[in-house]
Amino acid sequence: MKKVPFDLILKGGTLVTPAGLRAGDVGVRGGRIAALGKLETDAAAEAVDVRGLHVLPGAIDTQVHFREPGLEHKEDLASGTAAAALGGIVAVFEMPNTTPSTLTASDLQDKLRRAEGRAWVDHAFFMGVAAENAEHLAELELEPGCCGAKVFMGSSTGSLLVDDDETLLQAMHSGRRRMAVHAEDEARLRERLALVRGGADVARHPEWRDEETARLATQRVLDLARRAGRRVHVLHVTTAEEIPLLAANKDLATVEVTPQHLTLAAPECYERLGTLAQMNPPIRGARHRDALWRAIDQGIVDVIGSDHAPHTREEKARPYPTSPSGMPGVQTLLPLMLDHVNAGRLTLERLVDLLSAGPQRIYGIAGKGRIAVGYDADFTVVDLKARREITAKWLAAKCGWSPFEGMTVTGWPKATIVRGHIAMREDELLSQPMGRPVRFLDTLPGDAED
Ligand code: DOR
Repeated sequence: MKKVPFDLILKGGTLVTPAGLRAGDVGVRGGRIAALGKLETDAAAEAVDVRGLHVLPGAIDTQVHFREPGLEHKEDLASGTAAAALGGIVAVFEMPNTTPSTLTASDLQDKLRRAEGRAWVDHAFFMGVAAENAEHLAELELEPGCCGAKVFMGSSTGSLLVDDDETLLQAMHSGRRRMAVHAEDEARLRERLALVRGGADVARHPEWRDEETARLATQRVLDLARRAGRRVHVLHVTTAEEIPLLAANKDLATVEVTPQHLTLAAPECYERLGTLAQMNPPIRGARHRDALWRAIDQGIVDVIGSDHAPHTREEKARPYPTSPSGMPGVQTLLPLMLDHVNAGRLTLERLVDLLSAGPQRIYGIAGKGRIAVGYDADFTVVDLKARREITAKWLAAKCGWSPFEGMTVTGWPKATIVRGHIAMREDELLSQPMGRPVRFLDTLPGDAED
């Protein structure tokens, strides 16, 4: 009898499946997982030996800023997605604070067109929330290639800002997807700007944008979401004080933390990195970092996103506070988190929950997020034992720097496989950009009704 042919077999790895770790092979056909178990390699067009390696479901980074259109000197969709693939990421959700901001269906379609043939990984784009589109979000969030709506409650890079309850509620009443929120209280930010205006040490960044600034906004977004009956996703949570609020509202709110808030701490990071450590919301002291780790341990955190937000070295060299906030991170997310796994701060299974199952659950992604027959053949193959230094040479982001340069980590991505295409192997991009828009469960095409 003729053997069932596969396009690709990953042979001899340790698979991280919903049932836990298991030794075995994965067979891929037509971009999907076709079989798990013991497979004959001669049944495949291509076989990749992954003995000694772990095969994770593809890692999804649900918060990146790739700057195209309008700010391509910082990053673009080709360089940003190349960095993602090199870092073991199979899909990215990109933020709307480009120039112009992503506010209309045609802004979104423009980004999708730009990504075609240039994106190394799968992708979806956020619609920005603004007074002018708040009542149309229900239709906009269901556009193909849109992952949902993102609201800035406090101003950061770009002009997007919604700080009044009326518009926030209007936006929350429009649409059903989980709304992503940057929670910093704009009024308090303005009040406290005097602390740093005219020049200050960057170490005062977390004093200007203090704990109360974050806590106030998070409390407010939870109250408004409860009133509107809208599910929300609180991005880059940074304070110990927000954790109990979020834990008390898990029916409504999901939680993101970033690798940088789990890894760096004030004041050391500002002394060592200066404005390279400046981001919003800020890197805070060790008390907060410890609280974020406890929240991971307690299951309160749902997802890790990089908040990849590149700026050039020249821009970062401006005197604080005129220096822009944000740091690159899509390529270092996985190496940093694997290093934390090796240090015993979380298990590999919990990391997969945060990088694959979590994104799928929060945004209702179709066909991604787990190793199971029928799902997209997205894999992040990692060597848990590899010890590697993060070097400028390895980085693909246009800005050319990382706050983690010079750090040696244990655990490294060896291959990034996107719907059966090997996008990266052994630190090299392969073939050509094959990224496609991510699909969502509530907008799968069905039979058109008459
Ligand atoms: O530090 C940040 N930089 N925080 C944000 O919310 C935006 C980001 C950017 O786009 O530069």
